[in-house]
Amino acid sequence: MDDDARDRIAEGYRAFSRETAVEAPAYSALAAAVAGDREVLAFLAGLPAERSTPPLVLAVLRFLGGIPADGAELRDRVLADGHRLRQTLLTRTIQTNEPARCAALLPALAMVEGPLALVEVGTSAGLCLYPDRYGYEYDGRAVGPPGPVLIRCTTSGAVPVPAAPPEVVARIGVDLDPLDVTDPGDVAWLRCLVWPGPVEVERLQRLEAAAAVAAADPPTLLTGDLLEQLPAALALVPDGATPVVLHTAVLPYLDADHRAAFVDRVRGLPVCWIAQEGAGMVPGTGEPYPGGWGPHLVLSLDGRPLARTAPHGGRIDWLG
Ligand SMILES: C[S@@+](CC[C@H](N)C(=O)[O-])C[C@H]1O[C@@H](n2cnc3c(N)ncnc32)[C@H](O)[C@@H]1O
Repeated sequence: MDDDARDRIAEGYRAFSRETAVEAPAYSALAAAVAGDREVLAFLAGLPAERSTPPLVLAVLRFLGGIPADGAELRDRVLADGHRLRQTLLTRTIQTNEPARCAALLPALAMVEGPLALVEVGTSAGLCLYPDRYGYEYDGRAVGPPGPVLIRCTTSGAVPVPAAPPEVVARIGVDLDPLDVTDPGDVAWLRCLVWPGPVEVERLQRLEAAAAVAAADPPTLLTGDLLEQLPAALALVPDGATPVVLHTAVLPYLDADHRAAFVDRVRGLPVCWIAQEGAGMVPGTGEPYPGGWGPHLVLSLDGRPLARTAPHGGRIDWLG
C-alpha cells in the first residue's frame, strides 16, 4: 500500500471527524474509526482521491445498506461488498440539494427587477429554483405562500426581507448530472446526502416537501459543465424576463482555473448574478478557507458581498 496516500486519507478522515462532532456525531465516530483502520484505508487508497472523501464514502455506505453501527461493521461491509461499494463511489457524487438556502437567496432576488428567469448552475435536482413557491419565517415574520415547505431563518443586520417573493417565470438548471425528483433512486440518494444529526429530520421533511413542489412543475434541466452549458441555458430565457445566473455551494467543486473562467464569463454577460458560496470563491468575498468550505457561505449580488449565511440555511447575517 502507498503509505503517503493512506496517511493523506487518514488525515482527511480525522479532520472530518473533528468538523462533524456536533453536526453529525455518528459520522464523526465512523470517520475516526476509518482513520485508524489499515484495511479500510487500503481500500480507499485504491480509489481516485476525489472518490475517497468522507462525505461521499459515508453517504454511499448509507445508500447501499444504512449507516454502519460502528467501525467494525463499516470494515466488514467494505471487505465483503467492496466491488459494489467501489462501483457506486465511482458513479455517485456529492449533490446535496438544500432548499433552505432559498431563505438567503430571496432578499437578493428581491433586489432585482422582475419578472425573473432563474438560471441555476450546479442545480442538483433544482430545489433552489423555487424560491417563490416556498413559505418562510424570518425571525417569526411570515413571507411567501403557506404550504408544506416552511423555511425558518434567523437574521442579524438590516436584511431587506421582501413583503412577497418575486415573480419567477422560468426555472432553468445546469448540472454535470442533474438529479430527477421523480426517480426513487435519485431521491434516495438525496436523502442519504443529509447528514445524520440534530437537524436531520427537519431537513429530510423539507427535502421531501420541496421535491414534491418540483415534481409538480419540473424545471428545465440541462446536463453538462456549467461553463459549457451557460449559453444554451441563457438561450432559454423568455423575452421580457431578467436573467439571473445563480449558484449555491458549487464553486469549491471547480479547480481554480475553471472557477476563474466561469467568474470572468458571468461578469461579461448582461445578467444579474447571485452567488452563495464559500468565502473567496467569488473574488472580493473574503479569504478562502482550505478546500473552499468554511463555517459560513457568502451571499453576493453581481460580485458584491451582501451577507454571511449558514451553510445549510437557517441564518443570515447581513453585512453593514
Ligand atoms: C453541493 S451541490 C449544491 C446543489 C444546490 N446548488 C444547492 O445548493 O442545494 C453541488 C452541485 O454542483 C454540481 N457541479 C459540480 N461541478 C459542476 C460543473 N462543473 N458543472 C455543473 N455542475 C457542477 C454537482 O453535480 C452538484 O449537483
